[in-house]
Amino acid sequence: MKFLTFIASLVCVLGYEVLSIYVDWGNPYDMGRLPVNDLTITETIDKSPLHTTAHYPNQSGEYPVVFFIGGMNGYVLSEMYTDVLRMVAAHGFIVFGVDYKYPALTDGENIFKPILKQDLKPYFNEIDFSTVFIEPVSFDAFENVPNPVPALMYGTELSEKGLTKCCLPGTDFRQFYKIWKCPRLALEVADFGHCDILNREFWGVCTHICTKSNETRIDEYHKFIQGAMSSFVISTLQMRQDAITYLSDTTKIPVKLLEHQTDLNCTLEKKSDQLF
Ligand SMILES: *[C@@H]1O[C@H](CO)[C@@H](O)[C@H](O)[C@H]1NC(C)=O
Ligand SMILES: *[C@@H]1O[C@H](CO)[C@@H](O)[C@H](O)[C@H]1NC(C)=O
Ligand SMILES: *[C@@H]1O[C@H](CO)[C@@H](O)[C@H](O)[C@H]1NC(C)=O
Repeated sequence: MKFLTFIASLVCVLGYEVLSIYVDWGNPYDMGRLPVNDLTITETIDKSPLHTTAHYPNQSGEYPVVFFIGGMNGYVLSEMYTDVLRMVAAHGFIVFGVDYKYPALTDGENIFKPILKQDLKPYFNEIDFSTVFIEPVSFDAFENVPNPVPALMYGTELSEKGLTKCCLPGTDFRQFYKIWKCPRLALEVADFGHCDILNREFWGVCTHICTKSNETRIDEYHKFIQGAMSSFVISTLQMRQDAITYLSDTTKIPVKLLEHQTDLNCTLEKKSDQLF
């Protein structure tokens, strides 16, 4: 039963180089400046192949696309993360929450199988730009991914604490960092936990499973994690190179860190070649 407690989130992002692309020049830990619209595209009503939520700037422009996949290989629906996803969109991204397991558990699939064998390779056959792993857990992350993309691996202190650890040491963000190649960056924040990224209405349910953090700090946490995710995609997808310093320079990170590893020099070189 222990495995039911794992939640791993995967944010996959695709980018394309368009010179007129919107660039957020602010501090990513502040709220983005763009107003955001939301749309739910349902599999049944809209004949969409997948149940999908979309959050996008309500202002014409060119924005990179971010695909978000919820925890447990997609069983945790992206609707549970909309507060944070909307905040990322406000920095100038079209964010799609792709619920490819929706409605969960009706396809007769054994939920344990994908969780135990969370093979990363299929994702990276399709996706080739940059990825944020938010508290990833995989029992299968021991082989190098064939063509790794720039990645941020992110963990929290409380996910490894308590009776029901929601991330197991040896299968989590540190392991992902270990098997990745440059460019990569890993950080672990103190005091927060696995459920804190969720919208408030789902947070309460999740904290029955994972170790609780302090509810009074959830808004602060959402503001932080949207900033961490945005810093990465602003630097890799909007091509604002200095935005990576909001993750690589610990003095710019507005929460207490327990761990911080960077291996980024290759990106900066490659990026400049691509851009100029
Ligand atoms: C989006 O823009 C339209 C037209 O400018 C406006 O009427 C609407 O209120 C905006 N929505 C949001 C969420 O800002
Ligand atoms: C939560 O945070 C508030 C404000 O910082 C504090 O007063 C309270 O004691 C904390 N609760 C727990 C359970 O830590
Ligand atoms: C990255 O490269 C710069 C200059 O080339 C160097 O000063 C710095 O120490 C390098 N950082 C790491 C972590 O290797």
